[in-house]
Amino acid sequence: MNIHDIGIDIIEIKRVDDAIKNNNRFLNKMFTDKEIEYFESKNLRIESIAGNFAAKEAISKSIGTGIRSFNFKDIEVLRDELGKPIVKTYNNLKQICIDYNVLEIKVSISHCKEYAVANAITIVKE
Ligand SMILES: CC(C)(COP(=O)(O)OP(=O)(O)OC[C@H]1O[C@@H](n2cnc3c(N)ncnc32)[C@H](O)[C@@H]1OP(=O)(O)O)[C@@H](O)C(=O)NCCC(=O)NCCS
Repeated sequence: MNIHDIGIDIIEIKRVDDAIKNNNRFLNKMFTDKEIEYFESKNLRIESIAGNFAAKEAISKSIGTGIRSFNFKDIEVLRDELGKPIVKTYNNLKQICIDYNVLEIKVSISHCKEYAVANAITIVKE
């Protein structure tokens, strides 16, 4: 087991709030149906939405490409029964993970009043 790379992202929560208010397709463009279901279960709490957005950018950095050759919805960040984020990949990113021998992508999210941050680590087979 090896670390392929790490990634971090910080975002102003207000930017995500503005994006949602100014573009009624923003949520559907960036997030999977299951992520939107999770946000709805939290009454569309903006900190959680911004945290998931930061998580996707951090994950893209931990792959080493940024959001390139795959799109935001190829990354799905849900929560386990204790609230810990869990990462699933789809479509082009799923194939990239197979090509890179990725075993797991881990992500951690935090937020305060103004910012959401996320750290990601991509683990590959030796
Ligand atoms: C890489 C990316 C996620 C950065 O996110 P951002 O919100 O624009 O910028 P951030 O301030 O969070 O991060 C910038 C840092 O990311 C790091 N970074 C840049 N490319 C990277 C890569 N391929 N892998 C890992 N880290 C990368 C750099 O350290 C950079 O800081 P630096 O230029 O001072 O060295 C984003 O720009 C991206 O996905 N680019 C890919 C191509 C693109 O533009 N796609 C369209 C997206 S809508």
